[in-house]
Amino acid sequence: MNDFILYGDICHSPQPDRIRVEDNSYLIVENGTCKGVFRQIPESYEGLRVLDFRGSLILPGMTDLHLHAPQYTFRGLGMDMELLDWLNTYTFPEEAKYRDLEYAKAAYAIFTEGMQKSFTTRACVFATVHAPATELLMDMLEKSGLITLVGKVNMDRNCPDYLVEKSADASLRDTEDWILRTRERYSRTKPILTPRFIPTCSDELMHGLRKLLLRFDLPVQSHLSENYGEISWVRELCPEAEFYGDAYDRFGLFGGDHRCVMAHCVHSSEPEMARMKKNGVWIAHSPESNMNLSSGVAPVSMFLERGLKVGLATDVAAGSHVSMLRAMMHAIQVSKLRWRLLDRSVKPLTVDQAFYMATAGGGSFFGKVGCFEPGYEFDAIVLDDGKLERPQEISVRDRLERAIYLADESCIAAKFVAGSRIL
Ligand code: GUN
Ligand code: FE
Repeated sequence: MNDFILYGDICHSPQPDRIRVEDNSYLIVENGTCKGVFRQIPESYEGLRVLDFRGSLILPGMTDLHLHAPQYTFRGLGMDMELLDWLNTYTFPEEAKYRDLEYAKAAYAIFTEGMQKSFTTRACVFATVHAPATELLMDMLEKSGLITLVGKVNMDRNCPDYLVEKSADASLRDTEDWILRTRERYSRTKPILTPRFIPTCSDELMHGLRKLLLRFDLPVQSHLSENYGEISWVRELCPEAEFYGDAYDRFGLFGGDHRCVMAHCVHSSEPEMARMKKNGVWIAHSPESNMNLSSGVAPVSMFLERGLKVGLATDVAAGSHVSMLRAMMHAIQVSKLRWRLLDRSVKPLTVDQAFYMATAGGGSFFGKVGCFEPGYEFDAIVLDDGKLERPQEISVRDRLERAIYLADESCIAAKFVAGSRIL
């Protein structure tokens, strides 16, 4: 059953500012839920099976708050372009291939396997406009054991003929059918509304998506304030909006009465940040993507100081790796360049803050997820950092810092999602 005890060196971050380290400790899991971390096994739990991971790091599972499944198989290509050219040259032609279910099956199998072996336990995933291929992806992700929110993408304007949905109505009908078919079919996989971004979504489409949101009580994911060209285009397309985020909010697709996650927010203005805070919008910070597409660097420590909700994301394929450890490293590194070169008022991110964002920060989009406090769903990665050879003795905290920079997927000794072991 889902009742057991893990023994090892436990690290987690209930708060953004400090990693909590509990070495040589016992983590009690009952019915897939954390019951707490103890130095000794409490009497009432004696007799439960103990999984002995002595000498390994036990970390919360990691949430990738934003990535694109159909882009996984062209990672690393086109990285000399900015967003809008990269979409037109590489992304849209590739996504069009998912009309063909045979192609989708082969490509999504590669994606799903990559995700299953990664540090990621939960994710918010973009698919393509094609409902049948999106369902196929959901079938595969369900079998992987990961917990995911998956979106059939909506786009009915400003993209090539070979990909654009024929009308707002056609897009909405496909979306409604897809929701009806998938919302109760799986236990780990659920639909999420996914207007790609304002430039590719007509007003009529956005109004219709709001109706679907209300009818089916669904969360929303999209892109926001990533690139200067994109932002000025939105200003032209929506002159009535006060700022980019307001263009979503006018349609009721920007949090407030539903869960909403926006990727990037690299260039969000003060009023946009204030609206995200007011509406409780999650920010998916994607540092590698922001480097590769020369988008810029989001002021992430400022978001955290102001109490905005922030998680980390790989944004594959604008980010070339699915590793959430790399995402943490990149988040710290780009924040240092931003601080040194652009703005001394926004401090560099600490390791503690990056670890928090990758675990409890992003995990909160899925509920009580991302740390080992009592009552949290048990998602965990056991990292055998013994593979990162060294002659000297170092603290558990130092081993974690080192693993964030050096470990890869081959160091994963076990992976648990909501109490079930999947690796
Ligand atoms: N904005 C709209 N679509 C995309 C996408 O596929 N990737 C990124 N990084 N930004 C986007
Ligand atoms: Fe993206």
